Amino acid sequence: MLEKDIKKVLVSQKEIQEICQKLGTQITNDYQGKKPLVIGLLKGCMPFMAELMKYLDLYLEVELMGVQSYHGGTASTGDVKITRDLDIPVKGRDILIAEDIVDTAKTISIITKLLLYRGANSVEVVTLLDKPAGRVVEFTPKYIGKTIPKEFVVGFGLDYDEMYRNLPYVGVLKEEVYTK
Ligand code: PRP
Repeated sequence: MLEKDIKKVLVSQKEIQEICQKLGTQITNDYQGKKPLVIGLLKGCMPFMAELMKYLDLYLEVELMGVQSYHGGTASTGDVKITRDLDIPVKGRDILIAEDIVDTAKTISIITKLLLYRGANSVEVVTLLDKPAGRVVEFTPKYIGKTIPKEFVVGFGLDYDEMYRNLPYVGVLKEEVYTK
């Protein structure tokens, strides 16, 4: 049913799995001897974080933070709202933020600054998708799954008006879906 709204598949299920495996190996090597705190930014991070974690062979903790910036449309409002804060202190921790997409980078730069302000030892970002053409704030995530062009994508956690997060792949939404 959802598939009829998709113009093209941008990152297939198989490719997502391969990306997670590759990123997982890289992160496992980089965090040897550390006990990172992996923080997922809800809600978009869910499927990506779950898939990536399978390939992290580390003693790690997982936390979730609710952050919102789109408020229903196809463009970031830039008004970043924390809808659910962390349950534990981050002082001295090595943090890895898991994101589904970095677009304007407003969300990720605000959250990175906040965690450093709270005393984190290090803060790095792993994102499934990077859309550098959308940047408003200068930011380069350390771990990038795939760089994508400036198109509105949904699926594998990414939504339009809260729908399509459950698609097993990332696809470009047909324009008629959000212009009608
Ligand atoms: C999306 C996405 C990122 C952010 C990226 O979240 O999950 O967190 O926007 O955009 P930016 O780089 O322009 O800040 P959204 O606010 O839509 O909330 P969601 O995760 O609940 O979908």
